[in-house]
Amino acid sequence: FIDKKLTGKKVIVTAGGTKENIDPVRYIGNRSSGKMGLAMAEVARDLGADITLITTVETDLTDIEIIKVQTAAEMMKKLQDRFDTIDVLVMAAAVADFKPINVADQKIKKNDNEDIFTIKLTKNPDILKTVASTKTHQFVVGFAAETQNLLANAEKKLASKNADVILANNVSENGAGFNVDTNKITLLQKDHEPDSWPLMSKVDVAKKFWGFYINL
Ligand code: C5P
Repeated sequence: FIDKKLTGKKVIVTAGGTKENIDPVRYIGNRSSGKMGLAMAEVARDLGADITLITTVETDLTDIEIIKVQTAAEMMKKLQDRFDTIDVLVMAAAVADFKPINVADQKIKKNDNEDIFTIKLTKNPDILKTVASTKTHQFVVGFAAETQNLLANAEKKLASKNADVILANNVSENGAGFNVDTNKITLLQKDHEPDSWPLMSKVDVAKKFWGFYINL
């Protein structure tokens, strides 16, 4: 039996790595499994939230509105269309920092005379920063995956992205990287001391996070 403590709350979770098109058959992607975001969505659902998952990865989660996207641009559009109406945003997606400037209409052919092929990239928008800069009542949660200076970098993100909370993890630590079922989180909140959690499953991280949110 779970107390439905998020009943009436509208939550959006983003999950997975974005795929940035090169041509109709190729893309630039990353190794994000989407597991952390899916766990966040599942636990929020179990706590009674009205939940929309904007995801690049497949999921069989039920009783959740699922919006499948590929690119950062699509993810941002779907989120912006709904941001006004929600209470909480959990931005767990691994958004590509860059995308190809041009997307070819047809499959790019290799040229027998050229051994080097260059793709020019341009910066993607920072979805979290863009959306959170317009926030009124929404509680906004970001992630920070770092390999060094975890706390300093995560503190910077808390401020620069206008987030209420950053869940930071050192992805070079055992059990806290991409594609594993566990995570080791430090929760950063404005005007509060960082709170380091032990290594736990991503579902337990989600339970601990939503417990934190409910007790705010
Ligand atoms: O700057 P960095 O990529 O480390 O920030 C991570 C946080 O920002 C995550 O919550 C991620 O979903 C979000 N992000 C974003 N748009 C980007 C890059 C990151 O929303 N272009």
